[in-house]
Amino acid sequence: LFGFDKEILNCSFDTKENMEEPMKEPLNGKYPGPTIIVHERDNVQVTVTNKVARNTTIHWHGVRQVRTGWADGPAYITQCPIGAGKTYTYNFSVVDQRGTLWWHAHFSWQRASVYGAFIIYPRTPFPFSAPALQPHHIPLIFGEWWNGDIEVVESEMMLYGGGPKPSDAYTINGLPGPLYPCSTTDTFILTVEPGKTYLLRIINAALNDELFFAIANHSLTVVEIDGIYTKPFTTTAIMITPGQTTNVLLTTNQIPNSNPNFVMATRPYLTSIFPFNNSTTIGFLKYQSNNITKIKNKFELNNNPPIILPQNLPTLQDTSFATQFLNSLKSLASRDYPCSVPETIDKRVVTTISLNLQDCPSNQTCKGFLNKRFYASMNNQSFVRPSISLLESHYHNLTTTQFSSDFPENPPSVFNYTGIDPVSENMSTNFGTKLLIMPFGTRLEIVLQDTNFLNPENHPMHVHGHNFFVVGRGFGNFDVDKDPLGYNLVDPPERNTVAVPVGGWAAIRLVADNPGVWFVHCHLEEHVSWGLAMGFIVENGNEPWECLDIHYNANVARCR
Ligand code: C2O
Repeated sequence: LFGFDKEILNCSFDTKENMEEPMKEPLNGKYPGPTIIVHERDNVQVTVTNKVARNTTIHWHGVRQVRTGWADGPAYITQCPIGAGKTYTYNFSVVDQRGTLWWHAHFSWQRASVYGAFIIYPRTPFPFSAPALQPHHIPLIFGEWWNGDIEVVESEMMLYGGGPKPSDAYTINGLPGPLYPCSTTDTFILTVEPGKTYLLRIINAALNDELFFAIANHSLTVVEIDGIYTKPFTTTAIMITPGQTTNVLLTTNQIPNSNPNFVMATRPYLTSIFPFNNSTTIGFLKYQSNNITKIKNKFELNNNPPIILPQNLPTLQDTSFATQFLNSLKSLASRDYPCSVPETIDKRVVTTISLNLQDCPSNQTCKGFLNKRFYASMNNQSFVRPSISLLESHYHNLTTTQFSSDFPENPPSVFNYTGIDPVSENMSTNFGTKLLIMPFGTRLEIVLQDTNFLNPENHPMHVHGHNFFVVGRGFGNFDVDKDPLGYNLVDPPERNTVAVPVGGWAAIRLVADNPGVWFVHCHLEEHVSWGLAMGFIVENGNEPWECLDIHYNANVARCR
């Protein structure tokens, strides 16, 4: 771990004393924020100046941050928040990664409005080919918008212990589209030429919802997920969880008749019968036959065509589509892009991921299920934010005052996916800042077991600082004797965020080869606020000498 000697900062300072007028044009005047484009193996430096009267930090979601943990960004994990008027410089390199990632604020729920694409151009040709592939690539970022102050939405949720106020709209590239009131002119339109192939870089930046996406009359060919190439496969729609990215090829093979606009639509995937936001947002794919392809964001109301949602858009509760889609994702596992999944492991950690209830304090009204308060936990530990960043505590050996390393490695009690009495089994949780410590180089398997308490969605579990291989997923309780026999150890998808099925499990494998302190959490913001997170320390160590150069050789797998 490359550190730098600096004073230990206590993160609990109050920046509100320094209140300034919020600046008129946040994010250099853009929403979503600017697309950052770099090349594979570039050294990247981003200086963030906070011009609003709030704390903030920026996280480079999916960038592995090999030995640059100080640049990872989650507040209280690798740094203190950047206070009002303050500046923080992120320095890192993009090593052995290429494709679409993204960046977002990692403080409170600010990522609702502070996010953008982070694109790494490869230095070698794409491993896929397509007729008439267009040279420019189009980010398509799905978001969730609240009319109001997002930090207030979070703090009210925490005050009353219930679920959050639902978002007011889903957005495509920041635009809600004509299905929302007064939003007709705020519609995303992608103008294309017929007979071409476009690379769409799809990012789910929504706070609390997994999403389906489809374009009427068009299929999509998936070629990359989370910045890793996949075996190409063609599908009528995609499913994408918050945090994930998916690159698809779109071939404009339709003959537009009187209406050259094809509807593109995104709506949530919710397994429960209580959807908390069931709206749909749309944009248009517009065929245009001149040579200039441009993206306009004005919807032309010329003949007011009726809006018909794509028939290929899955319905809200289409678990079978979601499962079949996720099962179709495979690593390329080719000679140039081998799959380096660990075939054997040094350690398996099984952890439950749960929503919990706590009794309401007598002087309060709580709005959670049965008038109680919601919390969330991993192995019954609800994560408590420290006052000094965990990376600083680790670097300066302040372990005992800031966190403890006794994260329980096995589920505390039986868990129930049949729904017989999920309430009593998920009733209480412990609170603490507990971290899992791994020696450098540990070949680690983490089995994430959902306990299916009132949870309407998969949990998109995200690991900072490492990619992992999704070697297995299933419904019901994980069976340590049987389920590993069915693992894919040949071409499992490699990614940074995995959808753990409701009432099921996902097994991921990684090599803990990046020293530092890393956040592991659900990418649904309400669940992070309730404590569905843990810290993960990878101790110092070095690769064997023959591996040291390998990070810089794009065509060789990481040395393991
Ligand atoms: Cu995309 Cu910890 O985040």
